[in-house]
Amino acid sequence: MDKILVEGGHTLKGQVTISGSKNAALPILFSALLTDGRCTFTNVPGLMDVQSTCMLLQHLGAGVETEGDVVRVSAGSLNNFEAPYDLVRKMRASVLVLGPLVARLRKARVSLPGGCAIGARPINLHLKGLEQMGASIKLEHGYVEVETRQLRGADIYFEIPTVTGTENLMMAAALAEGRTILRNAAREPEIVALADTLKQMGADIEGAGTSVITINGRPMLDPTDVAIIPDRIETGTFMIAAAVAGEEVVLNNCQPDHLRASIDTLRLAGVNLKTGEGRIVVNGGHPVAGVDVTTQPYPGFPTDMQAQFMVLMSVAAGQSVISETIFENRFIHVSELRRLGADIKVVGKTAVVSGVPHLSGAPVMATDLRASASLIIAGLVARDTTEVNRVYHLDRGYQAIEKKFAAIGAAIRRVRA
Ligand code: EPZ
Repeated sequence: MDKILVEGGHTLKGQVTISGSKNAALPILFSALLTDGRCTFTNVPGLMDVQSTCMLLQHLGAGVETEGDVVRVSAGSLNNFEAPYDLVRKMRASVLVLGPLVARLRKARVSLPGGCAIGARPINLHLKGLEQMGASIKLEHGYVEVETRQLRGADIYFEIPTVTGTENLMMAAALAEGRTILRNAAREPEIVALADTLKQMGADIEGAGTSVITINGRPMLDPTDVAIIPDRIETGTFMIAAAVAGEEVVLNNCQPDHLRASIDTLRLAGVNLKTGEGRIVVNGGHPVAGVDVTTQPYPGFPTDMQAQFMVLMSVAAGQSVISETIFENRFIHVSELRRLGADIKVVGKTAVVSGVPHLSGAPVMATDLRASASLIIAGLVARDTTEVNRVYHLDRGYQAIEKKFAAIGAAIRRVRA
């Protein structure tokens, strides 16, 4: 397994171009199943998860061509309705195939995604919504089988504003008979990006980005061409890296308005951040103050930024109380940061971080996508060398992250194992 070595003490300076959003690209790629024409997607990030999605689409019989950041999908002749275990276990977001497949083929057999390091990750709300739309659900041998004569619109309330649950049911409703209302829907920018894509395909959707989304079903959708929005979590990751180890770092091709909570929190801590059209300029490397944070559904502070923010607080002047409300086990990075000298105490869903004068390099273990990024950020300022193991987690969600960091002055390299 590859590892990444980071030598601390090198100041970051320069420009970073943010890639397309992983969490927008995945549902939008699956939305191509809702039409029998050819869709063209641009600014698609080069990620393992995108490769897994393309493999699953091909497994279902769709034609997929990739050329750089352009992916073309033709789902005119689907010949399979099953998403097998060996594909789904690599990427739990494969569950996003459920809604489109049931809408298009009236049946789907998808391996249950199972949990991951950060939590059990159930899909009960996805299935409850599909049931309300007239689908029968059967769970056996680790698969969920969904069938329907015809999906009908329904009035669906989410107990929790689930992101992929909202996306799955929005795609299912796009081809259902009648009106669907999704209440307490997730409001992430990736939901709006998917809704915009579906509307370009002819879907009738109102309210994406708010808690109530209304979809009037159509018999079929038309193909479309769509550019994927920038990745707000990659943007936030580099924002924090610059705050921790930067002089001046300019982030290009980003959307500051997708990161309001993160930007406001960093400014509260004393980070010097300027935002402009499609860009953010961070002047980092100055001491910051401890700031308390609680992760929330969008537009609150993102859970996907929690581990990265914890690194900034580990070297802040003062104390920070970080509460994780979205996932039940998203403090795995704490024990790894402690190995680097961080002073963090976890009590239930809350971590109390007391800033220390410096961190010191050590071998650490990546456990999930965003925790891996936080270990690299810590390595940028830890004395001597930090060795981040199991970096396949990183490759799932960050495009050539070590190359982007090296291009702005980090002493970082990948060692092929
Ligand atoms: C999406 O995951 C993202 N993934 C995650 O990003 C992100 O952390 C998460 O939303 C929260 O913002 C993609 O978009 C591909 P949820 P998702 O359903 O949809 C519970 C990353 O690093 N829940 O909004 O799986 C669930 O257990 C990844 O890019 C149910 O109980 O998250 C969790 O506690 C990590 N039943 C909460 O809701 C359900 O049916 C939020 O989960 C569904 C969810």
